[in-house]
Amino acid sequence: MNKIALGVTSSISIYKAADIIRLFQKEDLAVQVIMTERATNFIQPEFFTALSGQPAVVRLFDQKQRPIEHITLASEVSLLVIAPATANIIAKLASGLADDFLSTFYLAVKSPVLIAPAMNEAMFLHPQTQANIKKLKDLGVVFVEPESGYLACGQKGSGRLASPEKIVQLGLRLIRQQPVFKDKLIVVTAGPTREALDPVRFLSNRSSGKMGYELAREAYERGAEVVLISGPVELRPPAGVKVERVISSEDMRQAVLKYYDQASVVIMSAAVSDFRFSQAGREKIKKENLPSAVRLEKTPDILEELGRLKRGQLLVGFAAETSEAKARAREKMEKKKLDLIVVNDVSQQDIGFESDDNEVWLLWPDGRERLISKTTKRKVSQEILTEIGAMFNGRKGNN
Ligand SMILES: Cc1cc2nc3c(=O)[nH]c(=O)nc-3n(C[C@H](O)[C@H](O)[C@H](O)COP(=O)(O)O)c2cc1C
Repeated sequence: MNKIALGVTSSISIYKAADIIRLFQKEDLAVQVIMTERATNFIQPEFFTALSGQPAVVRLFDQKQRPIEHITLASEVSLLVIAPATANIIAKLASGLADDFLSTFYLAVKSPVLIAPAMNEAMFLHPQTQANIKKLKDLGVVFVEPESGYLACGQKGSGRLASPEKIVQLGLRLIRQQPVFKDKLIVVTAGPTREALDPVRFLSNRSSGKMGYELAREAYERGAEVVLISGPVELRPPAGVKVERVISSEDMRQAVLKYYDQASVVIMSAAVSDFRFSQAGREKIKKENLPSAVRLEKTPDILEELGRLKRGQLLVGFAAETSEAKARAREKMEKKKLDLIVVNDVSQQDIGFESDDNEVWLLWPDGRERLISKTTKRKVSQEILTEIGAMFNGRKGNN
């Protein structure tokens, strides 16, 4: 089903519903807006009709299209999101009241329900509201916690609607989660590392982190718990993912090892620097003191160490090569006991580093291989996660 329902209630943060619609539409999901009657005090239904391309529904007894719309629509949607949700709608749903379209629809819908509360802090923290939320959570309704910050009433506190990105990301997870990823921890590394010469100078590489960030987002949507270990990049991390920020290859090594025992999968898509300076100065080196040559040493090989310590984890490596890419990658896979290697030919200008697109070969230890022709990094990450899911189901690996 490619349709979701978005319930919109009379909170001052109602304008953020427009962004929520746009973000779902970007994911090829049609959005049917359902407004409470009081929400129309803030925004006319025509606004949401124009944005969503579907007539926004308000009244129960006023359906021009289909006579029992609340039941018909309930069978058509894969998710009900209520954002923003007032204290009032939460109370109504918690007690099973069905006195308007949205509350009646909630009882009719069998798909997952996601609620994003938005209200003044006192209203949110009121024991009655908290009891209502708990009751709904116990019934399986998922909540996006509101954020802290300045509220429309001029006060500072918790109760501000979560960001549209966070709401949509969690909504997508509810639609797209797959049993094979449930309760699995997937660790993804991304971006470059920086190896310091002194506090202001460093050795690094051109990795943008885009591939790793897409992989983390995709793994989260499929239902995994995700830790993204990221070198310094300019990207916004996907909502719902735990982010560990690191700078050097040694930081990255320690962060990966911290999660390795609990991890089911480690995807090393970071471009970890192969070298570092043998000596790094604590103070900025003065121009006149700059040595004519600097010594480099190899950084620890994280993948090799993970291969050695492996106890059932699926280990996925990336190889960025400029020649004989597949042959070199196979060697790397064998040496480091990888279960899958993703090979990038970075000599091609329009893919790989910094680009939004990628073309990769996937190689497995049993000799199997598959080309993912040039497409977006988003699509590549979907294919890789599909293969990882299949590997879990078949449990074929290099253990
Ligand atoms: C200007 C204004 C802003 C409001 N903002 C909120 C809000 O953010 N959260 C909330 O729970 N109620 C808010 N209310 C109160 C609700 O509109 C009120 O409880 C209403 O009965 C809820 O109806 P509904 O849930 O059917 O939309 C606001 C009221 C006004 C007048």
